Amino acid sequence: MSFLELVDVHTHFPIRKGTFGGITDVVRAVDGVSLRIEKSEILGLVGESGCGKSTLSRTIMQLQPANSGQIFLEGQNLSTLGSMDIQRRRLDFQMVFQDPYASLNPRMTVYSTLAEALCQRHRHLRRSRGKLASKVGELMERVGLDARFMRKYPHEFSGGQRQRIAVARALAPEPKLVLADEPVSALDVSIQSQILNLLLKLRDDLDLTMIFISHDLSVVRYLADNIAVMNAGRIVEYGPAGEVFSNPQDAYTRKLLAAIPRIQLSA
Ligand SMILES: Nc1ncnc2c1ncn2[C@@H]1O[C@H](COP(=O)(O)OP(=O)(O)O)[C@@H](O)[C@H]1O
Ligand SMILES: [Mg+2]
Repeated sequence: MSFLELVDVHTHFPIRKGTFGGITDVVRAVDGVSLRIEKSEILGLVGESGCGKSTLSRTIMQLQPANSGQIFLEGQNLSTLGSMDIQRRRLDFQMVFQDPYASLNPRMTVYSTLAEALCQRHRHLRRSRGKLASKVGELMERVGLDARFMRKYPHEFSGGQRQRIAVARALAPEPKLVLADEPVSALDVSIQSQILNLLLKLRDDLDLTMIFISHDLSVVRYLADNIAVMNAGRIVEYGPAGEVFSNPQDAYTRKLLAAIPRIQLSA
């Protein structure tokens, strides 16, 4: 069995139509997704806005209940877990979001943010301030930040540095899987590649397993081992990144590829 396995996962949202809310319909945000991810793999999940990428990610994290289907992590069926076990399991899944400024607490120093995240998994660290500070410093250096800045606040950093803080926070509880949902979409193009290189380095250093979500195929191509193309809640194409690029099988993938500016294709 693979490290993470999804079997025919459906996540639907009911929507009410009509003046009295009587007519209900459903949005099939995730409509029968099956996927496998191996340990230390980066899976690129790509598709246009609204195709269900974030819902799939929230479903994997057990933040959004699936209507049907199964999710296995290291062979354990997550759909059978009780709420206590889900709480514990949630530490195994950490997210990095598009906008670090919105996802970081502006009133907390980097130290407080990272210390809190570290103590989620290692409660005993609370009692050892010296050890906690050195762990925070280690985390900052791992993501390319100077540990001397740990008492600073998010607004004192650049956009790229803030995303590094968000990455460090995600790593703090030693997750088994990192779900990065459009992590570079809000950054300047010049900064994007720095963050992508950081994620690649972390995968190598920590054997990190990651789902990297983007609406931009050219970004996904840069770091994904395998690519899953999503359209209207379904995976319409899946394969090794190079093959999806050189020999796309699905018409929708070809459309996405055609939308990439030439200058990026030849880069
Ligand atoms: N909480 C929700 N309630 C109702 N509909 C939702 C909710 N979250 C997402 N959707 C709908 O599900 C579909 C997929 O959304 P989303 O997963 O955010 O797509 P993506 O991340 O690919 O842009 C969209 O049609 C969206 O409007
Ligand atoms: Mg999204």
